[in-house]
Amino acid sequence: MTTPSAERGQWSSRVGFILAAAGSAIGLGNIWRFPYITGQNGGAAFVVIYLLCVVLICLPYLLAELVLGRHTQKNPVGAIRLLRPGSPWIGVGVLCVLTGVGILSYYAVIAGWTFGYIFKNLLFAHLDFGHFVASPWIVVPLFAVFLGLTMWVVFGGVEQGIERWSKVLMPLLVLLMAVLIVRSVTLPGAEKGLAFYLKPDFSKVTPGVVMAALGQAFFSLSLGMGAMITYGSYLSRREDVVASGAYVALFDTLVALMAGFMIFPAVFATGHDPASGPRLVFVVLPEIFQTLPLGGLLGALFFLLLSIAALTSTISLLEVVVAYFVDERRWSRKRSVWVVGVLTFLIGLPSALSQGTVEGLTRMDWLVGEEGFLGQHDFLSIMDALWGNLALALGALLLSVFIGWVWGAEKAAQELQQGSQISPGLLRIWQVFIRYICPVVILIILVNVLRGYLG
Ligand code: PFF
Repeated sequence: MTTPSAERGQWSSRVGFILAAAGSAIGLGNIWRFPYITGQNGGAAFVVIYLLCVVLICLPYLLAELVLGRHTQKNPVGAIRLLRPGSPWIGVGVLCVLTGVGILSYYAVIAGWTFGYIFKNLLFAHLDFGHFVASPWIVVPLFAVFLGLTMWVVFGGVEQGIERWSKVLMPLLVLLMAVLIVRSVTLPGAEKGLAFYLKPDFSKVTPGVVMAALGQAFFSLSLGMGAMITYGSYLSRREDVVASGAYVALFDTLVALMAGFMIFPAVFATGHDPASGPRLVFVVLPEIFQTLPLGGLLGALFFLLLSIAALTSTISLLEVVVAYFVDERRWSRKRSVWVVGVLTFLIGLPSALSQGTVEGLTRMDWLVGEEGFLGQHDFLSIMDALWGNLALALGALLLSVFIGWVWGAEKAAQELQQGSQISPGLLRIWQVFIRYICPVVILIILVNVLRGYLG
């Protein structure tokens, strides 16, 4: 292993990188967000559009972020500054860093719920979700603990911190999901859920649905805010970016699809509304566990593993922001982690209090009107729509223009080729995607949504 600088570090192996990048990608986005967004957007037709977005937009774009990172060996701001010093493009890097803080602020709140559910399953099975999330004395400490855990891991630096966590536990999570799928699809009434999830009805598709699918694909793969630039920057030139990136996209998509099979049959079997929003997974899963022997224990184990999946994602969110301060501002790792962590806590507080604790945050119609912001009404969901959806799509649009046109698709393609066996034909196709298809499609979707929103 070669270490560029003591404060930066590098992955010790290819497998280490794939697991860490998959660890960033696989998280609450797959298991909490994918089912609820699918439920809100009508089911199977949304899933089809989601898969198209992953293959046609996200996969080529993921490779672009990785090569930009590997080429420059820097965080998003540093990467852009190195290639175009003093240009306004640096603003895109700044957008990435801000998006990192924005997403982390509410993501760690949900991760805190997940963490709390370990104990709830064991000790307070009767406590219902509505009460749980509306209790500030429960959710705020959980949020703080989760953010603290993330800070603690990021203190440790790349190698010891991130890799160690990713290696053993993700396969265990997938195994447990497989058990839950078997239980869910064999519940009486499960067929309706399978039909909802698998039989597309394209008449339900609106610009909003397409935007939700694209945003979810970016969110799930940790794209559009430079996480993969930063992770790519810890990658050596000998590594095959194409194969590694494809594995990451494949694993991430499989886990999301599994989450759908786990949730929807049970949603219909237990008579819940698939469109019930962020609470969906938290109310449906415990009902599945109730039907299983040792359900309380299995439930606790599941939420423990999900907390760890969330942790490998929050680590990457914080890592982007910290890498910026370490590389660009020459702060120590420790100081960066403290400053960013405390700031994120303050920004996340309103999200933690927006699920029934504070009325003005729970229904923000006073600010966003009756229709809501992209259909969302509470502070947490609005933050999610703003940062986890719009900002990621905008970031990806600007970064693909930067990589395809400003840095240049040929140079990026040369970097992509290093260490990989990609054929010249595929390489040319990739250049077309990064220059034309990715930015144009994202732009069309964004414009359509904003036109609808602005009336
Ligand atoms: N991809 C993560 C998930 O699916 O849970 C969330 C995420 C992590 C989004 C890192 C963006 C990011 F940069």
